[in-house]
Amino acid sequence: MLKREDWLDLARKLDWEYSYVSERDVFPEAVSGRPWLPHAAWESWDEPYRTSYAEYVSGQHGKEAAFRAVHDAVGRVHDFERLDRAWLSALKLHGATLPLAEFAAVVSNLRAVRFGRDSAWRTMANLGALDELRHTQIPLLVLHELVRWDVQFDWAHKLLHTDDWVAIAARHLVDELILTADPIELAIATNFVFETAFTNLQFVGLSAVACSVGDRMFEKMVQSIQTDEARHSQIGGPVLRTVVENDPVYAQYLVDKWFWRTWLFFAIVSGFAMDYLTPLEQRRASFKEFVEEWILDHFEGLLEEYGLARPWYWDTFVASIGTYHHMVYASAYTHRATVWFDLALPGPGERAWLREKYPDTFPLVEPVWERISARWREGGPELEWYTQGATPIGFCRLCQLVLCGGTPLSNSATVRDHAGQRYIFCSEPCAWIFEREPERYADHRDVVQRILAGNAPGNLFALIRRYFGLSEQSSGKDVAHGRYPWLERPPA
Ligand SMILES: [Fe+2]
Ligand SMILES: [Fe+2]
Ligand SMILES: [Zn+2]
Repeated sequence: MLKREDWLDLARKLDWEYSYVSERDVFPEAVSGRPWLPHAAWESWDEPYRTSYAEYVSGQHGKEAAFRAVHDAVGRVHDFERLDRAWLSALKLHGATLPLAEFAAVVSNLRAVRFGRDSAWRTMANLGALDELRHTQIPLLVLHELVRWDVQFDWAHKLLHTDDWVAIAARHLVDELILTADPIELAIATNFVFETAFTNLQFVGLSAVACSVGDRMFEKMVQSIQTDEARHSQIGGPVLRTVVENDPVYAQYLVDKWFWRTWLFFAIVSGFAMDYLTPLEQRRASFKEFVEEWILDHFEGLLEEYGLARPWYWDTFVASIGTYHHMVYASAYTHRATVWFDLALPGPGERAWLREKYPDTFPLVEPVWERISARWREGGPELEWYTQGATPIGFCRLCQLVLCGGTPLSNSATVRDHAGQRYIFCSEPCAWIFEREPERYADHRDVVQRILAGNAPGNLFALIRRYFGLSEQSSGKDVAHGRYPWLERPPA
């Protein structure tokens, strides 16, 4: 039998010359992506870690067996009943946003299996598609078990199929980033920017948090997914290298655009989990410390390695590390009935921790929590609506997320006029992305536009029930229904 190293290199490279069609017909630019280059420009495409299909199958089989064993041992309802209520919300948030993105990634990887420009790249995309199918199924399997206990877990599957504002924003991102992306944009935006800068580190960081919280199922789930991500994210580097050589302006644009768009989502999903939904005693590092340690230096170094500059809005990005997720969390708490998970009210202990971790920025947000706490004291426990916003709020016309950029003292929302209409954005980078491709984005209606056009109800209660699809049970509430020991009225 031949040794692996004697045949694998040959088997990876199976491109041939076409005799009766042109290469451009086989790989049309509209589907394969730009810059369109002859195969000679791509043939040095090389993945640092080689995998044969047989190795892939036996490796994945081992991972599935290990995952199943953990699921059998600690993946039952009574295992989750023991966990902190706020942490379960982190699970609900991740559990719903993960499968939505992962399934889109199956489709786009399959497009790369056919239209990627080199055979070794196409083979890697094939394994990537199988990975992403697994990443869709794992959270659905784990959380399906819990639906009969807590109906909010049903949103792991349901979110994608609703018009909840988070689903609208998530699809706006994921449809463009992943589902409809050509293989070149997919490789740079998803494999290089998102999976290299954010997802791998997100999974490593979050599995450490899950471990300290005692959620061994979540820890195992993200670890298992992460080992796949680490392999297929390597598709990005060699594609980016060729694009930088041939069209550096486009390469820089893709990086700048997708770093910002994926950052906003990452900051919400991971920022909420790390700084608000992890019980105080189990918190180790803040979201900011985590981003500084794992992303700032790492990504800057990576860009340099590829001959790219930092995104032009780097200072805005660095400033947002200490503000953005705090702003969105405060907004989400006061509109918690619009989401499928419960939110925790930061008490004196949590706020002291946040002040210590964010000395420059948290004091700006803290008055919001003081006001909300005072309202809870006034209204008493269980009175959700007394600390709940009653009107729909504004959304960014690019990212479709709430207009929560900047600080309470200075919101970074900005407007642009296009074709006789005024558009509002949460931030300068979102406005910049819109201005580069207005024909792509201008017709998309955000929640407010849908209300104004009569497609969605303007009454918040009707909007939540009829349009977002949230029932009384699944609608987000305060995790403790306002029953916090520290909140109790001091005896008169
Ligand atoms: Fe994945
Ligand atoms: Fe992936
Ligand atoms: Zn935006």
